[in-house]
Amino acid sequence: MNNSIQPYRNYYRQRTANQWRKTPAEHGDPSAIRPFLAGNWKMNLIPRAGVALAARIFDLCRDVKDVDMGFAPPFTGLSTLADYIEPDFLRREYGIGRNVFLLAQDTFFESKGAFTGEISADMLAAIGVDRVIIGHSDRRANLGKYFGFSSSVARRLSKDFLTHTLKRLNLRENPDKQVLATIEHLLKEEHSDVLEGLATFLEAELNERAGESDEAINRKVHAALSNGLQVIFCCGENREAHQMNETFKLLERQIRMGLEGVARHTMPDVIIAYEPLWAIGEGAKSAPLEQIKQVHDFIRNLLMDLYGEQIAAQVRILYGGNVKPDNIASMMELAGVDGALVGGASLNAFDFAKIIRFGLPD
Ligand code: 13P
Repeated sequence: MNNSIQPYRNYYRQRTANQWRKTPAEHGDPSAIRPFLAGNWKMNLIPRAGVALAARIFDLCRDVKDVDMGFAPPFTGLSTLADYIEPDFLRREYGIGRNVFLLAQDTFFESKGAFTGEISADMLAAIGVDRVIIGHSDRRANLGKYFGFSSSVARRLSKDFLTHTLKRLNLRENPDKQVLATIEHLLKEEHSDVLEGLATFLEAELNERAGESDEAINRKVHAALSNGLQVIFCCGENREAHQMNETFKLLERQIRMGLEGVARHTMPDVIIAYEPLWAIGEGAKSAPLEQIKQVHDFIRNLLMDLYGEQIAAQVRILYGGNVKPDNIASMMELAGVDGALVGGASLNAFDFAKIIRFGLPD
């Protein structure tokens, strides 16, 4: 049996060499790391189907003791799954201990009020959620496309809209002079090409990038932590940043801003998931092992700068993006990879069970 499934510690070998290592943990060592394999079901499965899938996975993972597993159903599936994974029941039925965690896919940062459709962190805690995914790229980058931010911006840059806005603003007692001047400037005949170009540019830009900001993500992180939820903080670069060698710069921004104000003593409640956008979903390929290793080292070094070596060694860093039964073991062998956040393959009982059982015989 491969020993990579046993608890281990991350330790820092040498600062100049920028290298982290895994070393087997002593029995009962409180700083031992348990790998965490989490399934993000995204917008799939009605509650009953989620329970049926989880049941098949537990059945295939009866002998898994030293790995934590997590399930993130859509909001509608949380309560039903929370009832099902009650620890005494899991122990009786499947011999599984307290290594099953219920995850939400998102939360809102306010605790209550007129925020139609949003779900607060204390609401999630109240129904038994353990951890919440925050800053997933589906939400960081794709919301503009889903919700049509882009077309509404493009519409606002049309001549008709600007002319109408000019009239509207002129009715105000104290219209903003700079805004008026800008609109008048844009409406000049000789600028109509610029206006059209600007609309096209912004539409494309927002389609690709508009979504949750680092600031909103940071507020969500604080809301979750202060309600006793652990956080699975997602970060990752898009294809362009990858090709322009800006991965580290972008990740540093996402992590510094996303975790701003999180105190050192709360960091053990944070798990980081590195998910390069270009490696996610059908048709994409997982990132090469070398890149995963480099990025995980980079993130751990950044955590060391921000919180010190002890915390950096303790925080679990997961990889996500086309994790499958046939590549999980080689990823888990990498220093710095403490688990995975799995999309597509987590919807198939055999595949996800194999991922959870990496390193164990079939
Ligand atoms: P895939 O495993 O389907 O590539 O999805 C990764 C992901 O986004 C998990 O959060």
